Amino acid sequence: METQTPATPYARPLDSTPEIDAAELAWWEKFSGIEEQFAWVQTPAIQRYLRGHYVRRIVELTPPGGRIADLGCGMGWLAVLLGKMGARRVVGIDFSPAQIARAGKLAAESGVADRVVFEVCSAAELAGRTDRFDVVILHAFLHHLSVCEIQNVLDTARHILDVGGRLVIFEPVQYPFGQRQHTLQKALVRLLFWLAKRCGLAAGLGPLNRRPKAQEQSTRELLAKRPAGIEPHGPSPKEMPFAPDEIQGLVAEKFRIVGREACMSMSHHFASENLLMELSSPKLARALRWPTLAMARTLERLALRFRIPPAGMWIFEMFVCEPKPPKEAAQPSGFSGPVK
Ligand SMILES: C[S@@+](CC[C@H](N)C(=O)[O-])C[C@H]1O[C@@H](n2cnc3c(N)ncnc32)[C@H](O)[C@@H]1O
Repeated sequence: METQTPATPYARPLDSTPEIDAAELAWWEKFSGIEEQFAWVQTPAIQRYLRGHYVRRIVELTPPGGRIADLGCGMGWLAVLLGKMGARRVVGIDFSPAQIARAGKLAAESGVADRVVFEVCSAAELAGRTDRFDVVILHAFLHHLSVCEIQNVLDTARHILDVGGRLVIFEPVQYPFGQRQHTLQKALVRLLFWLAKRCGLAAGLGPLNRRPKAQEQSTRELLAKRPAGIEPHGPSPKEMPFAPDEIQGLVAEKFRIVGREACMSMSHHFASENLLMELSSPKLARALRWPTLAMARTLERLALRFRIPPAGMWIFEMFVCEPKPPKEAAQPSGFSGPVK
C-alpha cells in the first residue's frame, strides 16, 4: 500500500534579490575550499568510487569525438573526471574566476588539459555563442537558482545544444522519509539505518576516532558554521533541494525527459567523516576508507532502490532530456540573473 508523496513544505523563490545573491557569493568565497576538500568534491579516488557509475553514463551519451559543456562547473572535478573516463572534448564554464583557475590547475595536474578546458563565462554570455555541444550538463547547479534563473539557464542549454544533443541534469530531490514505500520496506530500511548508526557506520566510523586533533576540531567547527540558509535550505543561502516532481515541471516547456535515475544520497557524508578522521588518525582512516565506503554504497543503493533517504538527506537524481522540436518549445531568452 503506497501513500502519496507530499510536495516539500516550502517554495522556491520566483526570482532572486541583490541581498541574497551577495550572501550567496560571500558564502562561496568563505566555504568553497572546505567544500572542495571535505564536503562535496573530495578526492579523485573517492569521486570515481562514489560517482563513477553515473559519470560513465554521461560519457556514453556523448557521440565519438563529441563535445560536452559543464555549466556551473565550479572547481572542475566533473569535467576532469569525464575527460579521464574517455570524453574527447569538455568545456567547463563558470562565472567564478577563482574556481576556474583551480579547475585549470586540476586539469593540468590530471593530464587531461589537452581535452578538458575551462572558461570564465556566465550563462548569459554563453547564450550568444555560436559553438554547439552534444551534451550539456547541469550538475548540482539549478538548486542554487530561483525559478526565473532556472528557466533562463534551461533556455541557454537548449540554445547551445547541437541537433540530437542531450541535456543532463543532476540535482538533489527531497523525498519525505517514510512517505513512499511499503510498510515492510520501510521497516527494513529503518532497521538497517538504525544498525548502521549503532555501529558508528552512519558517521563513517568516526566514533572510532576518539582523540580528534586540533586541525580536525577546527575543520569540524568551520563545517558546522556552513548552514546559512533558512531550513530546509542548505547549507548555502540560495540552496534548496527540489520537490519530488518539481524538475519535470521546470523542464517541460523545452525538454522531454528520456531517462531518470536516482544516483546518490549520503555516501559522500561517509567519505567526509573519513577525510576528517584522517586529520587525526591517518593510518586508521585510510585503513577504514574503502570498507566504510563499500558499506555506505550498499546502504545508499538500498535507499535509492526505494527512494527512501535516511531522514533529512537528499537523493541526487539524474535526468536525461532531449530538446522538444522548435514548434513545441518557446524561443531562448538568455540568462541574466546574478547568482553567486
Ligand atoms: C553548487 S556549485 C556546483 C559546482 C559543480 N557543478 C559541482 O557539482 O561540483 C554551483 C556553481 O554554479 C556557479 N554559477 C552560479 N551562477 C552562475 C552563472 N550565472 N553562470 C555561470 N556559473 C554560475 C557557481 O560559481 C558554482 O560554482
